[in-house]
Amino acid sequence: MEINVSLGNIVQQDVSAVIVNLFEDVKISGGAIGELDKLMDGAISDLISDGEVTGKKGEITLIHTLGKIPTKRVIVLGLGKVENFDTNVIRWASGVVARHIRRIGVRVVATIVYGSGVGGLNPRAAASAMAEGILLGLYRFDKYKSDKGKKTLERLTVMDTDSAKVADIEAGVLEGIVIAEAVNRCRNMANEPANLMTPTNIAEEALDIANNGAMEIQVLERVDMERLKMGAFLGVSQGSAEPPKMIVLRYLGNPSDQQNICALIGKGITFDSGGISIKPSTGMGKMKGDMAGGAAVLCAMQAVAAIKPRINILAIVPATENMPGGKAQRPGDIVTTMSGKTIEVDNTDAEGRLVIADAITYAQSEGATRIIDVATLTGAITTALGNVCTGVFGNDQELVAQVVGAGDSEGEPFWQFPMFEDYKKQYRSDVADLKNTGGRSAGSIIGAQIIGEFVNGASWAHLDIAGTSHSDAVSGHVIKGATGTPVRTLVRLFRNLAVT
Ligand code: BES
Ligand code: ZN
Ligand code: MN
Repeated sequence: MEINVSLGNIVQQDVSAVIVNLFEDVKISGGAIGELDKLMDGAISDLISDGEVTGKKGEITLIHTLGKIPTKRVIVLGLGKVENFDTNVIRWASGVVARHIRRIGVRVVATIVYGSGVGGLNPRAAASAMAEGILLGLYRFDKYKSDKGKKTLERLTVMDTDSAKVADIEAGVLEGIVIAEAVNRCRNMANEPANLMTPTNIAEEALDIANNGAMEIQVLERVDMERLKMGAFLGVSQGSAEPPKMIVLRYLGNPSDQQNICALIGKGITFDSGGISIKPSTGMGKMKGDMAGGAAVLCAMQAVAAIKPRINILAIVPATENMPGGKAQRPGDIVTTMSGKTIEVDNTDAEGRLVIADAITYAQSEGATRIIDVATLTGAITTALGNVCTGVFGNDQELVAQVVGAGDSEGEPFWQFPMFEDYKKQYRSDVADLKNTGGRSAGSIIGAQIIGEFVNGASWAHLDIAGTSHSDAVSGHVIKGATGTPVRTLVRLFRNLAVT
């Protein structure tokens, strides 16, 4: 699908449909919708008086123009109340309308940018959210279906009659495409089944991302990890026949300050069976998505390499399966982490913290002073927050606030959890420095704090995406399956953290 931008009036376009928008409780006056209403002898205002068209968020009304104007159809999209309007509404409603257009078999459409008029938004931000919403909303994971959806939206032209705005809209659309492609790539990776997205396959994706973005890449093999004494990571991988990979990507956006490195670590468990502490079989297939954090990290780097913020990022994805093979680690085993600290593996299903512990130590050995990790870490985060927001934890309130702020502006909300010393006693071990679990209570905090034990002086934020990386329902730009969360937040965060 192609999105282009052009100067002109949608009213005169010879396309299969034009899209205009309406706010709730706002009279139509000027603009494209007013003009169309006049040309169609008041058809839109009639429907408004009748109460059929209200402008409610997500409402779609299709009006056949019957030869009165060049386009065959006018689609009126409701945007809800003006006071609730923001880029998140644009993104969501764009997904809704794009899928509707595809469903009715329309292939070529023209639209204005929602919200730069009455909504009062900056045209660049509005256009970016619109392109994102369309491309995210149209996403399908159908590569393994013989019978693919035949209807496709081919071309959407974003139009404005104000030449001063067109350049901004164009920049916004291009940016939106970059972001949406990164999110959709992340969704693709996380939706792939575990037999086709192995640690080796993740490393191949990373290589492609690095090459296209002119980034340095290094893939540590098992022997390298043995040399580095990554005992926690290796312990997790030893029950699997698939070779583990520690993927390291370097983006140097601020070469004049090379000591200032921000690490971005993503959990890359390509299948989490639980290991010897095996999971129940119902729903185990969902654990193909246990590399969603790793995918988000790599795909955020794809967008970063295109947008080029002035910041240095060390992206790390510890990728392995967690399997119960004959060589698998056992509950009760003690592993020595790269940091030198020992961990009693109380439960082999608490593997995420083990692989991230070594990745954090590695990041610090490479000079990272700020660390963000992204992981489908705990089922408990869904008990606490559902799938509405991502849990965030950290040792540096300013960094946590930056994550929350970036999430807010991207419509990917975060909620911070506390970290208290008193939780420590839950994961004390009788035989090692700590154990990898802490009983039934406060599961997500315990997971976070165990990871935090390996942070040594750096600022750190931990994002538990176990509840938000997957959706069971379609809503606006969100589709069923992998969501691609938090790619957009990460890209926004790095743009915000970049020096200007
Ligand atoms: N990958 C899981 C967490 C998860 C659960 C992600 C549901 C997505 C959906 C993680 O490795 C895990 O198994 N965590 C355990 C930790 C426990 C053993 C301390 C959990 O949440 O039960
Ligand atoms: Zn896991
Ligand atoms: Mn697990």
